[in-house]
Amino acid sequence: MSDTNSYSIRVEPTKQSRLSQVDFNNLKFGQIMSDHMLVANYDNGAWTDVSIVPYGDLQISPAMSSLHYGQAIFEGVKAYKYADETVSVFRPDQNWERLNKSAKRLQMPEVPQEIFLEGLKQLLKIDKQWIPSIEGTSLYIRPFMFGTEPALGVHASASYKFIIITCPVGAYYSQPISLKVETYYTRAVSGGVGFSKNAGNYALSLYPTQLANEEGYDQIMWTDAAEHKYIEEAGTANLIFRIGDSIITPHGETILHGVTRRTIMELAEKWGYTTEQRNVSVAELIDGIKNGTVTEAFAAGTAATVTHISRIGFEGQDYELPPVEGREFSNKVFDYLNQLRYGKIEDPFGWNFIV
Ligand code: COI
Repeated sequence: MSDTNSYSIRVEPTKQSRLSQVDFNNLKFGQIMSDHMLVANYDNGAWTDVSIVPYGDLQISPAMSSLHYGQAIFEGVKAYKYADETVSVFRPDQNWERLNKSAKRLQMPEVPQEIFLEGLKQLLKIDKQWIPSIEGTSLYIRPFMFGTEPALGVHASASYKFIIITCPVGAYYSQPISLKVETYYTRAVSGGVGFSKNAGNYALSLYPTQLANEEGYDQIMWTDAAEHKYIEEAGTANLIFRIGDSIITPHGETILHGVTRRTIMELAEKWGYTTEQRNVSVAELIDGIKNGTVTEAFAAGTAATVTHISRIGFEGQDYELPPVEGREFSNKVFDYLNQLRYGKIEDPFGWNFIV
């Protein structure tokens, strides 16, 4: 969608930077937010008051509709700093498109491209010092939107806020992760909201994830709602496998349409691997681990980047995957994406959005 409106962005700089509170050598995920945030309001059918203001608390009504009925969606994007201080954001256009797909499904207004991309650009210019440059670190960008109408009737909110906050981050997972195949709880159903990035998809994952954590697993491997037979995703990331000679990822409307997942599948194809987006059954995965045809398994996401999977638990049995060092494709794609994002190699696809 192109947007012909021109939004002037009001800027109110902070009087007191918090940058000195950040230990860039020891970054935790999502703990300290950068000095500024972008805020836009939607009222009477139009986006207004686009502004960049000091990061801080919001004043909300206890009757605010999204607190009650869940019209809340978000994105995850990352900005990187090159050695020469150039700032680049990885494929933010894809996140903008996905945000608007989520918005449509949740009966929320679309966010114009200009507010999302131009607003982000200006925000990053103002908070450039917050973007870390050590390899493995980045500025995590969290655009989100929620209904703000103070009314308890069940209907689409008449007003919304779109906000972008950012924070310097290291790895979301610093080690390979273990996953428990979930065979009772369900993340998404056909016709539902599984493909969208809405807050409720994460809320519903917390209790089953806690149960998996208590059994010693880091995360859940979600399966389909009807039979718990086919693998879907990991909740915080998509899943990609190497089975035989193919790079395979589950597909469909019940999984998040991840930007990192798409990027990796596009690269695999360009590099000449056989790629498949299809149903992968738990049985195929477990049999493949047992007979050695499953040689790689990893989680792919903005926060997770490429996180190797070390162990999969299914019906009380654990299945170990091959050592991480020997995983040719996932190590190659991890290295390639790192080099690309930090501007160390050419960007033949135009994926780096230069600020
Ligand atoms: C992301 O990868 O950006 C996500 O939103 C996952 C998450 C941290 C919930």
